[in-house]
Amino acid sequence: MKLIIVGAPGAGKGTMSEELVKKYNFPHISTGDMFRDHLARKTELGLTAKGYMDRGELVPDSLTIQLVKERLTRPDCKDGYLLDGFPRNEAQAEFFMNMLEETNLGLDAVLYLDVDFDKLIKRITGRRICKECKSVYHIEFSPSKEEGICDNCGGELYQRADDTEEALKQRLTAYSAETMPVINFFEKLGYVRHVNANQSIEKVTEDMFKSLEENN
Ligand code: AP5
Ligand code: MG
Ligand code: ZN
Repeated sequence: MKLIIVGAPGAGKGTMSEELVKKYNFPHISTGDMFRDHLARKTELGLTAKGYMDRGELVPDSLTIQLVKERLTRPDCKDGYLLDGFPRNEAQAEFFMNMLEETNLGLDAVLYLDVDFDKLIKRITGRRICKECKSVYHIEFSPSKEEGICDNCGGELYQRADDTEEALKQRLTAYSAETMPVINFFEKLGYVRHVNANQSIEKVTEDMFKSLEENN
């Protein structure tokens, strides 16, 4: 299966990616996770990306496209992949479409997690992430068994630096201005599967898998 997952910040892309990986066992390529991983290792790329991310702005395309190109051309993507958080503006979509044309990468569907913006502040400020295995939790909607500790690996849970009300505002502005047009672009090409992401995690998961079974 070859998929792109899109949606507003906090729509549930990471959470649904965990479910998709359990089923399809393909590489989960999240540009946000890749930048955070670089930052944790204090690489030049990570330190450059940090300023943009903390403000809720997009990281420059030159850096992002390079990173994705290197990852998508690895052999493990030939049989399937899940792109989370990319492409997110017109230039990235153009790069991706060129890549589809020039290689036999292929794309099956674009999963669009459609959510009302007023749901997002609570999801974002209550999110906790495992430092080690990156599992996603929520203090109210998806709590770990022991506070602050990951169920999967025992790692420490942390809050992202951009999970503040102020950064979220800027992330939503970037999403509306730059990413919504990309979703419309894929919609016109017939790739988009709509998933109502306002519901419980269980219901969104169920609807998402149903939408993938439908023949479009
Ligand atoms: P990125 O890491 O991609 O962040 P984002 O797009 O803002 O999305 P999030 O990861 O915040 O949300 P999500 O949809 O994954 O939600 P989650 O499942 O965690 O990007 C971060 C930054 O990196 C960008 O701002 C930019 O600076 C940079 N960047 C990344 N990609 C880039 C690119 N291509 N180009 C340029 N810059 C780029 O869920 C959120 C919370 O809600 C969790 O706590 C979860 O448990 C809970 N939850 C999930 N679903 C539900 C539900 N149905 N009901 C209740 N709670 C739920
Ligand atoms: Mg995410
Ligand atoms: Zn963990």
